[in-house]
Amino acid sequence: MLDDDMTLRMAEHRYGPFGRATVKPFSRAQRAVDGGALLKTYVGVDPERRRRREVESVRHAVHWGLSVPEVLATGRCNADSWSVFRVLPGRPCGVRTDRAIEEYIGHVLGLSQRLHRSAPGLAPGPGWSDEGGCPEPRHSFLLNQLSSRCRLRPWWAALAEPLQPLESHPVVYLHGDLKPEHLLVGDHQLSVVDWEASARGPAVVDHTDVAFHLIRDLLYAGVEPRRIPVGLMTRLPFSGPVLAWRLLLWLDRRRPRDIDLIAALDIHRLAAEDHAPAAYASLARAVAALRAAGVPR
Ligand SMILES: Nc1ncnc2c1ncn2[C@@H]1O[C@H](COP(=O)(O)OP(=O)(O)O)[C@@H](O)[C@H]1O
Ligand SMILES: [Mg+2]
Repeated sequence: MLDDDMTLRMAEHRYGPFGRATVKPFSRAQRAVDGGALLKTYVGVDPERRRRREVESVRHAVHWGLSVPEVLATGRCNADSWSVFRVLPGRPCGVRTDRAIEEYIGHVLGLSQRLHRSAPGLAPGPGWSDEGGCPEPRHSFLLNQLSSRCRLRPWWAALAEPLQPLESHPVVYLHGDLKPEHLLVGDHQLSVVDWEASARGPAVVDHTDVAFHLIRDLLYAGVEPRRIPVGLMTRLPFSGPVLAWRLLLWLDRRRPRDIDLIAALDIHRLAAEDHAPAAYASLARAVAALRAAGVPR
């Protein structure tokens, strides 16, 4: 059941009142003034599908003993899709010091052991259940997330071919958006929030997201490329082609012409690099150059 009988008004009455909204391009989040609940409204791209994915995944993940936010109420009201979650204890992971980064990566690896499970017949795709549509090969599941214009870009072949070996990776349940603010560290447990990008695919996709977010966010916080602690990230399983794909996915979702700011040679080199620290260092240089060219975070 992905819809409760409760209307948004009833949920506000029971779990609110809710305070000021934190507004992002694709969501609004409001905490209850008593601190017990969080109202999330999905806006922009595919709100209803994102709501369903998130609610379904947290309801599933709880059976694996993961600490995830309980869905107190969820539904759709006129144009708005919304969910009310119970607020979990803990503070988002930090990345301000090497020690904090090491701890964060340790939490990711611990989570990975419990989350990245396979199941018979599990096929790659968005969400945790088959949302219809044909099963995709693992590498086309990644390529299909890029907009169709990318097929005409000079780097397409340099990306598509090295992604082929992913076919031998098991398909597992993915969080889809692992980053420090989604891992809440409490006194006794680690909680994981924001499951709306959950998917099925090779585990290295989640690991690559962690590395990519870390590098990009440190650079956009003003850290110099040569100071990015790439050595700390070597505990994460690594794939050069997936890292190159992740960089392109980011650019594809920025301003319309940003995707053309990256050279085919850079993508080719990144995808061919099998030494993780060298690949992370070269990603850092590329992202720093893109930032200098005005690409928004
Ligand atoms: N159940 C929760 N308990 C405590 N904090 C939460 C909870 N859900 C979200 N948060 C905090 O609020 C932030 C925004 O929520 P999130 O689900 O990530 O929405 P968005 O889609 O806007 O990123 C999260 O990064 C996290 O720090
Ligand atoms: Mg979030």
